[in-house]
Amino acid sequence: MARLLILGGTAEAAELAARLAGDARLETVTSLAGLTRMPTALAGKVRRGGFGGPDGLAAFLREERYDALIDATHPFASRIAAHAAEAAKLAGVPRAKLLRPAFARDPADRFIPVPDMQAAAAALPEGARVFLAAGRREIAAFAARPDLWCLVRMIEPPASGDTMPRGEVIVGRPPADPEAEIALLEQHRIGWIVSKDSGGQAAAKIEAARRLGLPVVLVERPPQPEGPTLPGVDAMLQWIETTLFAERAP
Ligand SMILES: NC(=O)c1ccc[n+]([C@@H]2O[C@H](COP(=O)([O-])OP(=O)(O)OC[C@H]3O[C@@H](n4cnc5c(N)ncnc54)[C@H](OP(=O)(O)O)[C@@H]3O)[C@@H](O)[C@H]2O)c1
Repeated sequence: MARLLILGGTAEAAELAARLAGDARLETVTSLAGLTRMPTALAGKVRRGGFGGPDGLAAFLREERYDALIDATHPFASRIAAHAAEAAKLAGVPRAKLLRPAFARDPADRFIPVPDMQAAAAALPEGARVFLAAGRREIAAFAARPDLWCLVRMIEPPASGDTMPRGEVIVGRPPADPEAEIALLEQHRIGWIVSKDSGGQAAAKIEAARRLGLPVVLVERPPQPEGPTLPGVDAMLQWIETTLFAERAP
């Protein structure tokens, strides 16, 4: 039986594990790290925690006899992406990246591209009312701007020691419906949006900004390591089939 390690923490990783669950030719293990709790139980086996860098991951791949490594981590999880590429090379295991497409561009968008969250905070005008969907590590840059009022949506609640920007926090996942995002933005009289170019379900807030004509300070994606990159679960299933089973077919 072939063994597949999925580096997860995204909806796509969970969908991939679920779609592979009935395949008797394969055993999948999904690896998770950090605080991110998945909304539903994951199919297949799950392990948790870091590997101790690329060498640790390479040793894990070898010792546990994995046949392939799928990096299905978030587009902004750049350290683990680099480690996965290096570890796969060291261990001689095929690796592919599942990378969801960036937000679709539209002529009505008012995007202001920036390289990181520090630059995003600096790009906002004095006294702006801002909607910010961000993780705990990313909000400190906005706390340094007490003139801003920020509505912060976080998937995991802030911890007691976190430095928070002035404003309000809502804890929860992004809704898929742009109407729900429009209602939230109007209720809080938001004039600016700050977003990573994550793609996926967070696209509802980009559509909401488009319809309301609001500017979006858009943090651009970090570069990905070289190698096969697939845009979704269907394409990844095809890559797995070709990589693990094509040459074994009669
Ligand atoms: N960054 C985001 O915006 C974002 C959003 C949603 C979900 N997530 C998910 O949250 C997790 C952490 O994200 P991050 O941005 O903190 O990652 P990161 O900065 O790229 O990685 C930091 C360290 O965490 C460990 N790690 C990360 N993902 C792992 C995984 N799936 N399995 C085992 N170890 C992992 C690795 O530790 P070692 O070096 O010790 O191996 C890595 O060096 C990722 O799995 C990602 O898919 C991230």
